[in-house]
Amino acid sequence: MKFGYFDDLNREYVITRPDTPLPWINYLGCQAYFGLISNTAGGYSFYRDARLRRLTRYRYNSVPLDCGGRYVYLRDDESKQFWSPSWQPTRNELEDYTCRHGMGYTVIGSSFKGIEAHTRYFVPLDENLEIWQLTVTNKRTTRATLSAFGSIEFCLWDAQDDATNFQRNFSIGEVEIEDGVIYHKTEYRERRNHFAFFACSRPGAGFDTQREAFLGPNRGWDKPATVEAGQLTDSVAHGWSPIGAHQIRLDLAPGETQQIVFVLGYQENPREQKFDPPGSQTIDKRLVKPVIARYLDGKAADGAFERLRQYWDSLLGIFQVDTPDIHTNRMVNIWNAYQCMATFNLSRSASFFESGIGRGLGFRDSNQDLLGFVHMAPERARERILDLAATQLASGGAYHQYQPLTKRGNNDIGGGFNDDPLWLIVGVSAYLKETGDWSLLDELVPYDNEPGSEAPLYDHLLRSFSYTLERLGPHGLPLIGRADWNDCLNLNCFSSTPGQSFQTTTNKDGEVAESVFIGALFVHAGHELAEIAKRRGLAAEAASYLDKVATMELAVLEHGWDGDWFLRAYDDFGDKVGSRECKEGKIFIESNGFCVLAGIGLEDGKAAKALAATREHLATPHGIVLHQPAYSKYYLNLGEISSYPPGYKENASIFCHVNPWVMIAETRLGHGDEAHDYYSRINPSAREGISDVHRCEPYVYAQMIAGRDAPTFGEAKNSWLTGTAAWNYYAIVQWILGVRTTYEGLEIAPVIPASWPGFTATRTFRGVVYEISIERKGVGNKIALTVDGRPIEGNVVSPPEDGRKRVSIMGILS
Ligand code: GLC
Ligand code: GLC
Repeated sequence: MKFGYFDDLNREYVITRPDTPLPWINYLGCQAYFGLISNTAGGYSFYRDARLRRLTRYRYNSVPLDCGGRYVYLRDDESKQFWSPSWQPTRNELEDYTCRHGMGYTVIGSSFKGIEAHTRYFVPLDENLEIWQLTVTNKRTTRATLSAFGSIEFCLWDAQDDATNFQRNFSIGEVEIEDGVIYHKTEYRERRNHFAFFACSRPGAGFDTQREAFLGPNRGWDKPATVEAGQLTDSVAHGWSPIGAHQIRLDLAPGETQQIVFVLGYQENPREQKFDPPGSQTIDKRLVKPVIARYLDGKAADGAFERLRQYWDSLLGIFQVDTPDIHTNRMVNIWNAYQCMATFNLSRSASFFESGIGRGLGFRDSNQDLLGFVHMAPERARERILDLAATQLASGGAYHQYQPLTKRGNNDIGGGFNDDPLWLIVGVSAYLKETGDWSLLDELVPYDNEPGSEAPLYDHLLRSFSYTLERLGPHGLPLIGRADWNDCLNLNCFSSTPGQSFQTTTNKDGEVAESVFIGALFVHAGHELAEIAKRRGLAAEAASYLDKVATMELAVLEHGWDGDWFLRAYDDFGDKVGSRECKEGKIFIESNGFCVLAGIGLEDGKAAKALAATREHLATPHGIVLHQPAYSKYYLNLGEISSYPPGYKENASIFCHVNPWVMIAETRLGHGDEAHDYYSRINPSAREGISDVHRCEPYVYAQMIAGRDAPTFGEAKNSWLTGTAAWNYYAIVQWILGVRTTYEGLEIAPVIPASWPGFTATRTFRGVVYEISIERKGVGNKIALTVDGRPIEGNVVSPPEDGRKRVSIMGILS
């Protein structure tokens, strides 16, 4: 069952009924000002940090689910009927409801009794504000006298405090109203130098800034007393709950259309210029007024929208592909790339599953996210890498997360996740391959942001590498520490206290439990590091890294092999995890996928066996589960993984983040059919037809899909912010389509389904546009390339020496 359709030409997903199984959302903004918006106009806005600079309120865990948003109401002033064109919050029966989620904008609209209305929401580039363009058309044969209302509920900035500290909050709310603009200035009187504003393009028939005045006592947003009565009350909030609401009267002839623009934004003043006149308590509005005035003009808003479109055209234009599979095309060309930008911008902070108050930026997460967006925003990738590296500890270890506003490591969540540092090497090598910007490695970066500790970024990579080597266990495999990629495999935790954090509790000394997965990651990262050293002219150093890699590979093959697949780990007692000997959790995806991805066991047949076992034991129609059998009870020696009911999250769900490791592994064995088959099983577009089962948005990946042990097998959760975005993008583009960045140039190595006659693609790489055309002549993966008509040796296309900006590549697969 579907709830809408893809409009690929306009790069939109069009939702055609408001009652989607869950709120289906989109993101507004891609620089500093952000908003989440659902298909019924729910969601909230913030500046940079979803916790510390929250502009508007949202109620997670509310009923109905999606509560708090950018709500517009219309009222027929003759019949006195009122409704919301976005369905929520009034939930009237609407005609022609549609929600178009596009690249950085959302348009929601409908018809009700002959009045057609839609609102386009977006954030202009380089501005800290959002625009709502409400367009109302009278389709009746008679005149219509209407009132339009735009409304939001302000958050008192710190979203955590806002939701808990009522004894203070109910007394601190302050607003100003000037020239019809509502300013929210809670705490501006003291240490804040920022405020929010909510403006409207037309002279108002009234406003409200106190929630109770607007809604009326004992009412909710579905039935505001003032909207019902047709008149706002001009309330001025003192304490309680400041809101912004504007009322505009519309008189529409038959067929007439009118537009109203609302602008909601964030503004900072210099500290010495907070008040006007100085010494007063009135906000100095000299900086903000021109900004507001600019965008209240409908033409300026249209212009800003056009620039946003062009921005996305150019970003997505960097890689475009045309294959025989429509789901591949639309995910690669549109939605997966778009999701990669969202995960880069927000890491795991703010979605409908991440409350915006919980998490900073993950060290390993952010490094992996680079794989998906580095081609679209290399300068921002560079900055992100330097920020991440500056939180690295002198030991080479890493804080698990850092706070984006302060760029400091977060001590509360701590460190000791022993895979974390190695991801820095993976992220940096992706950046170098994309850009060829080797100067990055010479940037001086401190450890733990400690002035005086600066060292070239390259040294940080070496410390990441030795961090593992200095922490080897009894089998010569890396000690796992608190956990590895799987945050919930907590082999040193041994927690029996309810509520205790699995992430920060360690009850054992941690000298025994080892991770085969980190062994594989070390091999992978070690190869990358050796390549980097070689190109810095450090041949001997490179050779010594390869030595260490070879030793690790041997340890994995000898002590990390269970007979038919790779083991997952050894626990604190030295017992196997992920072995045929185990009662539950006999086989795991992470070690099998990543060992093969890293090239371990390719020669002696272990890789092929591991993938066959993965297929046999872990693959389901909805994707590949993390392990089997699921843990049926809590195991003290395994930690959080066994805290989840079977089939959910880290306990044997289909964790979509790691499925692409198996796809890439399959391509390393030349299995194009298998790789693309796995790709399709979790591709959200390919799952659109089962939206009633999948339940999350069909245009973006979710972190997990309930596994076969769960009663809701196939149901997705935690959509949008997940490493799944980057890894799937990387797997399909660089390994299945095989358009791969290397230090020397663009490698063309497709491992595609045997049934595909070929594909074409365009890739802008280091300033050159490559037009790629692949044709299948035989069923294999052997490729012969001609570049601008001339055959070349091998399959890496080096940048043109004569400065040509367009290159055509023809590839014949046989
Ligand atoms: C979440 C975390 C990620 C971790 C994964 C598996 O996605 O953000 O860091 O690797 O869970 O536990
Ligand atoms: C929880 C989640 C896991 C996440 C971890 C860290 O354990 O289940 O996915 O990685 O928290 O925040």
